Amino acid sequence: MFRTKTCGELRIGDTGSVVTLAGWVQRSRKMGGMTFVDLRDRYGITQIVFDNDTDSELCEAANKLGREYVVQITGKVAERTSKNPNLPTGDIEILATAIKVLNRSDVPPFTIEDNTDGGDDLRMKYRYLDLRRSCVRKNLELRHRMAFEIRRYLDRHGFIEVETPVLIKSTPEGARDFVVPSRMNPGEFYALPQSPQTFKQLLMVSGFDRYFQIVKCFRDEDLRADRQPEFTQIDCEMSFVEQEDVLNMFEGLVKHIFKYVKDIDFTEPFPRMTWADAMRLYGSDKPDTRFGMQFVEIKDLTTGAGFAVMDDAEYVGAIVAPGCAGYTRKQLDQLTDYVKRPQVGAKGMMWVKLEQDGSIKSSVGKFYSDDILRTWLDRAGANPGDLMLILAGPTMKTRKQLNELRLHMGSELGLRDPQKFSCLWVVDFPLFEWDDETQRYYAMHHPFTAPNPDDVHMLDSDTGAVRATAYDMVVNGNELGGGSIRIHDSELQDKMFHLLGLSEDEARYKFGFLMDAFKFGAPPHGGLAFGFDRFVSILAGLDSIRDVIAFPKNNSGRDMMIDAPSEIDQSQLDELKIDIIKDAE
Ligand code: AMO
Repeated sequence: MFRTKTCGELRIGDTGSVVTLAGWVQRSRKMGGMTFVDLRDRYGITQIVFDNDTDSELCEAANKLGREYVVQITGKVAERTSKNPNLPTGDIEILATAIKVLNRSDVPPFTIEDNTDGGDDLRMKYRYLDLRRSCVRKNLELRHRMAFEIRRYLDRHGFIEVETPVLIKSTPEGARDFVVPSRMNPGEFYALPQSPQTFKQLLMVSGFDRYFQIVKCFRDEDLRADRQPEFTQIDCEMSFVEQEDVLNMFEGLVKHIFKYVKDIDFTEPFPRMTWADAMRLYGSDKPDTRFGMQFVEIKDLTTGAGFAVMDDAEYVGAIVAPGCAGYTRKQLDQLTDYVKRPQVGAKGMMWVKLEQDGSIKSSVGKFYSDDILRTWLDRAGANPGDLMLILAGPTMKTRKQLNELRLHMGSELGLRDPQKFSCLWVVDFPLFEWDDETQRYYAMHHPFTAPNPDDVHMLDSDTGAVRATAYDMVVNGNELGGGSIRIHDSELQDKMFHLLGLSEDEARYKFGFLMDAFKFGAPPHGGLAFGFDRFVSILAGLDSIRDVIAFPKNNSGRDMMIDAPSEIDQSQLDELKIDIIKDAE
């Protein structure tokens, strides 16, 4: 046996027993005639002591150990004189009687500790070393436990996991596809699935009734902290359901996981908000509802004073930052700079302070009397000591800017505690989204989403106003998941493709298989998919999903460790009949 115990399990009760441990040398230090080695494995760290007086040869061997050497150590468990309360094994140490070096190690490029000195790029290049750090490993352990528990929940509710193909047909809609050339069919390409959407619908046609899959999805899109080119979905579909059934089933799953991981009981149903309200009150379809600061519209109260910024604006919206009337000129300038950053894009910001003594100060005081400014503050329900921040401009654009400002203020005021969780269903999304550039409608969710039955009559007459039977689960301002009730009627699906600007031939070429399937008795069905990486990172209180993925890509979509993507041999290209066009010098 390589080991009789792990480095994380010995306690004071084990004192006196003889054990063999195996692991990595985290650190070794000489003090007087003693050498102390911290030995690490997946389970923890145990201190090993080598005493020069009792066995100088052994101690000399220990002095030669380098960081990350792999060693096997035998010794007797003893109570420590100076205990380490931060370590579960901190009450004991091992008085070594034998040591065997199982493998040597080069000096690692960064320290393998929670507070490492390694920068991001270096840690990604040596990710296998980064994964030795317990804070990183813990995230993957959480991921494992969550996947396990999700499977248990879904299994208990009659879902079966079915794998769907990874080499599929390219039907870009939404993000770009990653494509894979086919050697056996030169000039033809597979695509990697952006999600198993059509396959899970086909499984419903096959009568599977309740499907799920914890599945890799691939999207060639610009990366952000919550996006990776390959990521994992908890993908689900159910037959003979209405929206309410789907929401209840998966609200249950989210609650179950919160209870299991965090011991948090959500006793009330998750609140629901229409997309229109989310945009009106928060300027976002994924509002962070851990804090208030809802938008207040004051256009009607600002017009007619001869102040062009307000008079010409389609929309004037405000938020009230509680207790911030004391903000200095410098702080207000910083906020103005913040909203003017290209990422936010506002032209400027206005403010009104309601001082503790009830007096009013404002950046637009020369255009508006205190009485008028007071009507704005009253509408917003501002209290003495509060600060009102105002943006004006085109409605949708300004709401998005005000959303950025609201989130920024929320962070500044410490209202976005990662250990507090606020879950919300956003419902009644629009079915279509108009794109000015291409002058056509796009499906806001995807082309298989059913219109709200109450709005079907408007499909031709008021296309942009038709609501979808689509819903998103939002947690702390993150889109955790989304789905819809699907169209199961081939005629309605034809109509949808038509409204999306797909000719009959194009629709057949792209989705003929689905349209055919729908002719053979498709049941009413619907479902959703959660972003699994996001789910884990939210519960772990992390900002980036990279931290919960064993081998993630960087912001350029590159795997720094294996150095992918990379060029391929000319012989491979020849076989695939692919010519690479090099950029002209
Ligand atoms: P959707 O496109 O909304 O829906 O994706 C579902 C969830 O997947 C997560 N997600 C991502 N996570 C990490 N990196 C990405 N690049 C990324 N893109 C999406 C999000 C999102 O909410 N087939 C439909 C679902 C359905 O209708 O059933 C779909 O894929 O958390």
